[in-house]
Parts: sequence; C-alpha cells; structure tokens
Amino acid sequence: MKILVAGATGALGKQLVPRLVARGHEVVGMTRSESKRGAIAELGAAAVVADALDPEQVARAVAESEPEVIVHQLTALSAGLDLRHFDRTFADTNRLRTEGTDHLLAAGRAVGIRRFVAQSYAGWPFARTGGPVKTEDDPLDPTPPDAMRQSHDAIRYLENAVIGAGWTEGVVLRYGGFYGPGTSLAPEGGETVEMIRKRKFPVVGDGGGVWSFIHIEDAADATVAATEHGARGIYNIVDDEPAPVSEWLPDLARAVGARPPRHAPLWLGRMLAGEAAAVMMTEVRGASNLKPKRELGWEPKHPSWRDGFAGVAA
Ligand SMILES: NC(=O)c1ccc[n+]([C@@H]2O[C@H](COP(=O)([O-])OP(=O)(O)OC[C@H]3O[C@@H](n4cnc5c(N)ncnc54)[C@H](OP(=O)(O)O)[C@@H]3O)[C@@H](O)[C@H]2O)c1
Repeated sequence: MKILVAGATGALGKQLVPRLVARGHEVVGMTRSESKRGAIAELGAAAVVADALDPEQVARAVAESEPEVIVHQLTALSAGLDLRHFDRTFADTNRLRTEGTDHLLAAGRAVGIRRFVAQSYAGWPFARTGGPVKTEDDPLDPTPPDAMRQSHDAIRYLENAVIGAGWTEGVVLRYGGFYGPGTSLAPEGGETVEMIRKRKFPVVGDGGGVWSFIHIEDAADATVAATEHGARGIYNIVDDEPAPVSEWLPDLARAVGARPPRHAPLWLGRMLAGEAAAVMMTEVRGASNLKPKRELGWEPKHPSWRDGFAGVAA
C-alpha cells in the first residue's frame, strides 16, 4: 500500500516507517523541515515537506503523495512536559490534534484514502471513577481538571473526528506512556529519566494513579497492524500490566540506577507541581489491551514494563 506518515521523524514515526517499508509498503514521510528529508530517506521512505497546520500545504502534500492510508502521528512534545502548565505545554499538540486532524482528513478525503490511523492517549483522558483499568468502551473524563481541559477537548475532538469519518476506515490508537529509544523514558537523554536520577520526580500522595506503558517498538508493531487491517474503532495500545505510580516509579528508578524516589504529601505535590501532576500521581487510570490482541492480532514483545524498563536500561 502507499502510506503517508505524518510525524515520520518523531519517536514513533522513526520506528514505524522502517517497519512499514520492511512489510513492502511504499511510504511517504511528512516533515516541516527540508533538512529532515535525508533522515526520512534513511528510514526508507520518500519525504514530503508540509506544515500540518497549513491546510494548503497539507492538501498539496497529500495530493502529490496519493496515499491509500494516512497515519497521523503528529505531536509537539519534544520541548518536554511542564505539568504545572499542562494545557500550555500541550497547546501546539492540541492544535495538531484538532486543526491538524481536520486538514489531514480533508486532504485524505480529496484523494479517497481508505484508512486513517491516528494517535491518542491511554491514561489521563480516562474518567477517574470506577475500576483501575479501562477498556475502549469506558468513558473519557466528563469533568477533567481545569488545568487539563483544553488537552482533553483536543483528544476528544481527534477521536470523534476520526471515528466519525464515515467515508473512510477511521482507527484511533490510544497509546500508553512510551518508553525506549527516542522517548523521555530512554536511559540516555530521556528527560523523565534524568528527573528521576536527580530525584525530582517524587511519588505524590499515595501514588495510586494507575499508568499503562508501552515499549516504543511494540507501539510501532501495533501501528503496522492497525494500518494493514482491523475494523474502524479505538484500540488501547498498552502492555499487559497497568500499575500504580507507587510501584512503577521506584522500579524504574532502580532500573536506571537512581536512588529511590522521594515521597511528597498530596498538598505539597499539588502546590509545587500543580493540579495535573497531582491527578496523574493519584487519580489516573490504566488500560486493557485485550481488544487489539483479539482484533489486530498484535502481542507486545515487552508484555510488562518491569522487564521492559530493565531491558532498556541494560
Ligand atoms: N504516548 C506517549 O507516551 C507519547 C506520545 C507522543 C509523544 N511522546 C513523547 O514526547 C516526546 C517528543 O515526541 P517526538 O519525539 O515524537 O517529537 P514531537 O516534537 O512531538 O514530534 C512528533 C512529530 O510531529 C511532527 N510535527 C510536529 N509539528 C508539526 C507540524 N506543524 N507540521 C508537520 N509535522 C509536525 C514532527 O515532525 P518534524 O519535526 O519533522 O516537522 C515529528 O515527526 C518523546 O519523549 C515522546 O516519547 C509520548
């Protein structure tokens, strides 16, 4: 198939493009920068230069590439996360999830794509009530914290736009927290790992917030599967072991050779790191991966972050 990957140079894109090429697909990678053409060629793809926020540039890039499938992996998170200002830190990503999605869908419709695969997130968007592990049928948070409202709205917008595009097969992949090469949880240069090493990433409150992780290579494998087959819908791309912060954070610290994380009471964590950080430490929910295993025929090669973190650190 001919596949356009928007976000080919990102953490996921770099893993995804060579996998699609190895499967015999013809891939075009989209970037904003002329200077990244070479990097995309090294991944085995042709490059097209366009700003995803400019509808005319996107329309031209898609018309020139004539893809059968578009994979939307656009985010703007490489400057790092400032959880104190959650919506500000996600502002550009939120535009990519709203305007960027609209532009790619419109351009894809014009050339008659038969499938549109887009990135979402399994974690903070879930409702913070009920059990600790959510399926694709469980609701998103109806009352997100004020500090995260715009980012919630953008996730909801993307998911509704993609699933609602009745003229194509819309697939939403809710990835867990990425770890591994090129992510913030990489042992060398990973921003979150550096914070853990400096003991600036404490367990807040009871650390009862449940996180789901996914090795970046497993995320790419699942994306290949979802690009090739599977019905319209949402899939949680996470590992087998959702776990509370109080469990995974000390384990990750050990794996990267850091001292154990500090503990901060909830009020202090909220005061120093903000509402979003407090929520992520104490209230968020994890996700179940039964649906993509069943319907996409996908299995994570790193079924547990326990071994995954240790493997990455080694
Ligand atoms: N589920 C998760 O845990 C999750 C999800 C996403 C990201 N992250 C983390 O966030 C950090 C940064 O992610 P990243 O390395 O993927 O980088 P990023 O800066 O978020 O960029 C991702 C991709 O989006 C493209 N992009 C951004 N704005 C664009 C625009 N206006 N027009 C066209 N393309 C645009 C970039 O292309 P060009 O720069 O080439 O234009 C790049 O290919 C990493 O630590 C990653 O692990 C985590």
